[in-house]
Amino acid sequence: MVKICCIGAGYVGGPTMAVIALKCPSIEVAVVDISVSRINAWNSDQLPIYEPGLDGVVKQCRGKNLFFSTDVEKHVSEADIVFVSVNTPTKTQGLGAGKAADLTYWESAARVIADVSKSDKIVVEKSTVPVKTAEAIEKILTHNSKGIKFQILSNPEFLAEGTAIQDLFNPDRVLIGGRETPEGQKAVKALKDVYAHWVPEDRILTTNLWSAELSKLAANAFLAQRISSVNAMSALCEATGANVSQVAFAVGTDSRIGPKFLNASVGFGGSCFQKDILNLVYICECNGLPEVAEYWKQVIKINDYQKSRFVNRVVASMFNTVSNKKIAVLGFAFKKDTGDTRETPAIDVCKGLLGDKARLSIYDPQVTEDQIQRDLTMNKFDWDHPLHLQPMSPTTVKQVSVVWDAYEATKDAHGVCILTEWDEFKTLDYQRIYDNMQKPAFVFDGRNVVDANKLREIGFIVYSIGKPLDPWLKDMPAVA
Ligand code: NAI
Repeated sequence: MVKICCIGAGYVGGPTMAVIALKCPSIEVAVVDISVSRINAWNSDQLPIYEPGLDGVVKQCRGKNLFFSTDVEKHVSEADIVFVSVNTPTKTQGLGAGKAADLTYWESAARVIADVSKSDKIVVEKSTVPVKTAEAIEKILTHNSKGIKFQILSNPEFLAEGTAIQDLFNPDRVLIGGRETPEGQKAVKALKDVYAHWVPEDRILTTNLWSAELSKLAANAFLAQRISSVNAMSALCEATGANVSQVAFAVGTDSRIGPKFLNASVGFGGSCFQKDILNLVYICECNGLPEVAEYWKQVIKINDYQKSRFVNRVVASMFNTVSNKKIAVLGFAFKKDTGDTRETPAIDVCKGLLGDKARLSIYDPQVTEDQIQRDLTMNKFDWDHPLHLQPMSPTTVKQVSVVWDAYEATKDAHGVCILTEWDEFKTLDYQRIYDNMQKPAFVFDGRNVVDANKLREIGFIVYSIGKPLDPWLKDMPAVA
């Protein structure tokens, strides 16, 4: 029986391994992590991450051919194929701080593999890593290997949170990069055979190692760039009276461009886009390509601009001050159908409003108060470290309350900011919300989910990103 071990039981390691276990009953899969609380949660009824469909997949295989454990050494030593899916945060100190990927966790995983292995292994990079990481890992493994042979493969993950299980069941492509030697190609074939249990052969792409590593960074940079492009247009739409939804539809019907990822919003978030672009920028700089680095940096700058532009709209509309005003924040996760708040634009928007002394009442159907308080007090990039290594912050932001209901959040508020596109925000009873708010009552829709015209009929002053402005907002300064 082929044995797979995955180091890192996070948003990627957990779902990918659960799907491999489901689709390959003849393979035994162990997911290991240094975080005891995470592994305990994977072994309980309350999984550590919320992802539609994940529960069902885990329940079908757990205890049969899918195991979650903190015994990293045992499962690594027994495995034929070891996936590494640990955090690769942005460095906060030293060379490349603020841009380069911190490979501390990757390196320690590689050292464990070298230390405990007693048989040849295929080591698969699942984490997103800088191009040429495989070479560094190869060096660590071969220098410590006591004659054991390792083949390194790059198999970046393209799943999107919120649709991870669907994406894994039916991927656009699976990408496998390996050495172009007979041993390298043999390893590529072994991993291909795993995916071939359910992925059609023509969707399993094989490349050299460096192409696979770089393709992941490139794909995320292209996706984020589309969002920054449409968001840049949204500012121009507001200035000219064009409607960004109409512009995006007209642009997206061009088959060369395509309709996806063209929704204007308060900005992109998630654990990957910013981190991976910063990493790409750093790699370009290290390779003497400052113009290319500058080009990609601009994608992040527009994203930051979009968030501060939103905050400025809120403050400017409300008589240039939100000091001591209650503002309801609906949605904190970086997108719907996930509880993940990593790099969510809500953090920057909330910090911006708190900077202007607002009182915030936050509601998100999947995010806990503890998480929101951590996010609002944590330093940039500290979030991307294993839980037990994150700074403990006993301080809470007093001007923030977290409630479990949109009506409670909006009661007596002066304004409502919609920051995540949860479906339930489309069908709220906005008349009831209006009746219980201070007047004039404002709605700032950072995701374009509400019917602005209906809300205006009720009496709200509405700001929708990239849409023709309410007369109220027209004369207000809004540029960041
Ligand atoms: P995560 O933070 O949810 O999970 C990483 C896990 O690795 C943590 O539970 C941590 O405790 C564990 N870990 C760290 N060092 C370890 C070690 N030495 N031994 C054992 N366990 C260790 O991170 P996530 O989101 O799963 O991301 C993992 C990688 O996948 C990152 O490189 C990320 O860029 C990439 N990725 C993430 C995607 C996403 O949607 N979250 C999508 C595609 C790629």
